[in-house]
Formats: sequence, C-alpha cells, structure tokens
Amino acid sequence: MGNQAKLSASGNDYDFPVLKGSVGPDVVDIRKMYGQTGMFTFDPGFTSTASCESALTYIDGDEGVLLHRGYPIGQLAENSSFMEVSYLLLNGELPDADELSNFEFTISRHTMLHEQLLQFYRGFRRDAHPMAVMCGVVGALSAFYHDSTDISDPQHRKISSHRLIAKMPTIAAAAYKYAIGQPFLYPDNSLSYTGNFLRMTFGVPAEPYELHPAVEKAMDRIFILHADHEQNASTSTVRLAGSSGANPFACIAAGIACLWGPAHGGANEAALNMLKEIGTPDKIPHYIERAKDKNDPFRLMGFGHRVYKNYDPRATVMQTTVREVFDALKVTDPLFETALRLEEIALNDPYFVEKKLFPNVDFYSGIILSAIGFPTTMFTVLFALARTVGWVAQWNEMISDPGQKIGRPRQLYTGPTQRDYIPVDQR
Ligand code: ACO
Repeated sequence: MGNQAKLSASGNDYDFPVLKGSVGPDVVDIRKMYGQTGMFTFDPGFTSTASCESALTYIDGDEGVLLHRGYPIGQLAENSSFMEVSYLLLNGELPDADELSNFEFTISRHTMLHEQLLQFYRGFRRDAHPMAVMCGVVGALSAFYHDSTDISDPQHRKISSHRLIAKMPTIAAAAYKYAIGQPFLYPDNSLSYTGNFLRMTFGVPAEPYELHPAVEKAMDRIFILHADHEQNASTSTVRLAGSSGANPFACIAAGIACLWGPAHGGANEAALNMLKEIGTPDKIPHYIERAKDKNDPFRLMGFGHRVYKNYDPRATVMQTTVREVFDALKVTDPLFETALRLEEIALNDPYFVEKKLFPNVDFYSGIILSAIGFPTTMFTVLFALARTVGWVAQWNEMISDPGQKIGRPRQLYTGPTQRDYIPVDQR
C-alpha cells in the first residue's frame, strides 16, 4: 500500500491515498472524500488543488523552472521554433526532420479563413478591442467547420487542433487590419508560421513586405514563451468548458475570454501602460509606495505570480530579447531603462522580497512588442495566438483520458436556508 494521508474530523479517522507525480509535490487523492466523510474541501482560488493529471508542462515556482514535456523553456527558446514546440506539446516528443516538415506543411494548409468568416469582421465596430473580436471570431469557427467537431473522434480532434493553430495568426492579423482600416491580407504559405503572421499584420497589398529575420526570430521566441503554462486560469477554463463535451472552437473562445483579464493575459498591456504612466525613473519611488499601500488598488503590473515565487524564467529570456530587437531595429525605448530600474528598486525593497514578487513574462514583453510595431491592444491577442497550442494540447489530453468527467466543483453555501415565498403585496 502506498502513502496515506490521515484526516481526523468529528471524532473519526479517515485515510486518503497520496499520489506521486514524476516530479513535484505529492497529491492527496480526495476523490472519495465526500462519499466517506460527507465533507467537501474548500479552495476557491485552487491554491492547493490539482484539478487534473497532466504530462505536458511542469513548473517549479520556487526554483523558477518551466519544462515542456521535460525540456527547459530556456533551451527551447534558444534552440527551437514555435512549430517544433507546438509539435512537442501536441505529440509528447520532439519531431525528427521529416515529422517537423510534415507538421509545418499540414499547418500551412489550414491558414486560410472561410471567406464568409472574413465578412464577420464587418459586424464589429472599428474601435472594438481586438480581444473582443477574437472571442467572437474564434467562437464563430464552430459555425464554419462542422466536419471536425465530433470530439469523440481522434481524427476530428486532430484536424480541429491543426485548424485552430493555423488560423489563429490569420484571425489575429485580420483583427488588427480591421481596426486600422487596411485590407485583409491572405496568408503566404511560402513563409514561416511567424513570418506569415508578421506579413499579414504589417504588410499591405500595394507593395512587397520585407521580413526582418531578427524580428521574425524574436516574435517566434515570444510565441514559444507563451505556448503553454500548465493549469493557469485560461487553460483551466478551456478544460472546464471542454469537459462538458463542447466543441473545441467554443472552448478556445472561452479560453480567450478568460485570458483577456488584466490579472492574466491582459497584464502585458497593463504593464506597458503602467510604464508609460510612470514615465521616467525619478517617478518610480512614488509608484513603489502606491503598490505597497493596502488602501491603493495600484499594483505593479508584470510583477508577481501565483506559482512563481522566484524570477519567472520567461522574463529572463524576454529581457535578453528586448536588447536583440533593439539592436536589430537600431531603436531604443526609454521605457526599457525605466523598467530595468523599476525591477532593480522593487527587487531590493523588503515588501517585494518578503512577498516573493518578481517580474513575470509580461513585464518586458510589451516593450519588445511595441518596438516591433504592435499597439498595446494587440499584446493579449499575441498571447492568445501562442497559447492556442497549449489550450488545444491540454484539451486533447483531457478528452483522450478514459476517466474524464465533466468538471463540477462544489461550494460552501452561505445563503439563506429554506424559507417560504411571500406574495409581492405582502412584502
Ligand atoms: N504589486 C504589488 N503587490 C502585489 C502584487 C503586485 N504586482 N502582486 C501581489 N501583490 C501582493 C498582494 O497585495 C498580496 O499582499 P498581502 O498578502 O499583503 O495581501 C500578496 O502580494 C499576494 O498577492 P495575491 O494577489 O494574493 O497573489 P495571487 O497569487 O492571488 O496573485 C497575481 C497573483 C494575480 C499575478 C498578482 O501577483 C498580480 O495581480 N500581479 C499583477 C498582474 C500581473 O502581472 N499578472 C500577470 C500574471 S502572469 C500571466 O498571466 C501570464
């Protein structure tokens, strides 16, 4: 018999199995707890609860480690490509050369959107937030691709996963083009996944688009850094939506909606807005004091993380990438100096040290994206584009699990107990 955890409650003792992962904390299996004890556990923010079993991504928040299928994020960001990482997440192993080129070819065959879907954009106001457009258009995919929505069929799941990964750059670029009033560009499958996205975003039909190799590389690396992050809020949303058997396009639209929030994917937009508001390094102490003041809602955006209680390994790569993009484009941004100084001051302040608040992936990403030419409203869209691969890989993993059940949390009820209805004229 393996390890057991003991619970004593109301004079009774109960034993629960302790499960071991390949690495990471042990997990107390409480699936039979309600049946045996008549009690629930209470963990509203899932701070101590593993919601599923997964073999995709591992994070050690104390050590600042992030592994995809065992490979450290730093090694993948340095040596791999977003397409290769996508294959790895979906299939469990790195591809050989043939597998990679077949995968890239397959994805490139799905980059176009149904023409009718392009008409869909015209229903939005030009000044709509592109994440609002993304929620709508990605959700609408389920109205266009009826031939791949049988989630019990592995082939359908594979095709819809490929469609989502392939179409996301086209959808994201079209959201941008619509906002600025330029014509949509069709994909060019002779380019890389990332190169094609940059061309559809920044190119115009009137002239050839010149792809900057360093920018293409930096963008691809940013996609790698955002590809997956185990059971974060948006991924858990995708899993929960998918647990009812909903089609994958609807599930990914739910993930996009969750990602939009400023505590999650919206933080990159919020972080750059904050740096702009701070402006010059001399204003930093004022904002540090505000962040520490319990009566002030202001927080240092791009700082702190539910899981990382150390430097987010993705932030380290981001910081290096800022310098590479600046060198390649021969530009600079005074906000980068402000960000570096803010990080230095915060990391030496007892408030941030004691609470283990470090820069997260969003702290530097806005500076790079702005140097490449994206407006702040597009930042979270880029996050959604890259995270789509993690979402579909996690969704596939869940649906393939024979023991999969609909996600149905319970609650600690604190409302009124049963009472009788009183007619309106007697209230
Ligand atoms: N600035 C100032 N204080 C902070 C910050 C911050 N950025 N983050 C956390 N704290 C403080 C909180 O006030 C709290 O203090 P208390 O214990 O005295 O009440 C303590 O640190 C713990 O914070 P919680 O909000 O309880 O931690 P939680 O794990 O729930 O939140 C979160 C994590 C949402 C990321 C938080 O750190 C935050 O709001 N950061 C800013 C937004 C951000 O950058 N989000 C991006 C996350 S990464 C991503 O989604 C890709």
